[in-house]
Amino acid sequence: MTYSIRHMKDASHQSHSFKDDVVRGLKRAPKKISPKHFYDKKGSELFDEICELPEYYPTRTEMGILRQHSKTIRQLVGENTCLLELGSGASKKVRLLLDEINPKSYVAMDISQEFLHYSTEQLAKDYPHISITAICADFSKHFDLPESVSVQNVLAFFPGSSIGNFEPKEAEQFLTFLRKKLGHGSALIIGVDLKKNPEVLHKAYNDSQGVTAEFNKNLLHRMRRELDTDIHPKNFEHKAIYNQQQGRIEMHLVSAKDQRVNIEGEPIRFKEGESIHTENSYKYSIDEFQVLARSAGFSPQRVWSDLNQLFSVHYLTI
Ligand code: AVI
Repeated sequence: MTYSIRHMKDASHQSHSFKDDVVRGLKRAPKKISPKHFYDKKGSELFDEICELPEYYPTRTEMGILRQHSKTIRQLVGENTCLLELGSGASKKVRLLLDEINPKSYVAMDISQEFLHYSTEQLAKDYPHISITAICADFSKHFDLPESVSVQNVLAFFPGSSIGNFEPKEAEQFLTFLRKKLGHGSALIIGVDLKKNPEVLHKAYNDSQGVTAEFNKNLLHRMRRELDTDIHPKNFEHKAIYNQQQGRIEMHLVSAKDQRVNIEGEPIRFKEGESIHTENSYKYSIDEFQVLARSAGFSPQRVWSDLNQLFSVHYLTI
């Protein structure tokens, strides 16, 4: 069993950038914090719970699509691949690909160190013949790939519609960067949530058990755990709405009252109803996403979706 963990620079400075991003984000108008800060250990666990919720269709649907087309994927991808997963989280979906395409090596990249450690250890036990590398890095920034990743024949896997958490312009820049890193002869399998009935979207981000609300509020709990602050989660409410014009779900933490909080010695004022914008989750039609992929230099080869047209999985080559 070959198994190694690498920590990239970005990740070791994570708590530092969390503090800076929070203070900067709360001093601007409108207040905004990047969704990448949801994913400390607790946040990653809550996200895993979201993925199991009856209302949150993306995970199940994407798994179904991958399962249904796994044989075709194997034929397209071929042998001796290096599989690179971006935002591997619990590394559940990738098991489908590991089983079917049997790659030479697997590289998991995620921002949450503890989560990454645990999930790749499990994988190393279950797939002893595959060389596994875990890289703790913020892949939304520029990253380096280990030398062991052959420049040829890399299959990147970016599931879960995490691309939807980038602004469209940033998504294009990120995909351009990824295309250059992977190089000619490589491919990308990317999951993209489709535009659909807003009612379905609303339910997916306002689940009846309140797990999404807890996930959103974990950002405030994380501030209390890691920063010097008196901000209190009970003084904020979860809000998730579909912005039809922009084609995105927006998540906010709304102040329940006029309040003043201190964060790392900085006073921050909130008006009642004022929000911290914590996440955008863009939804794309198949055509819209293919335009985006092409503008980043990828060639769309295949796209699969479910019968209800909830979710899409694109196979793109370079
Ligand atoms: C990780 N990301 C694709 C999820 C989404 O749907 O945008 C995060 C999430 N936010 C609320 N629920 C799930």
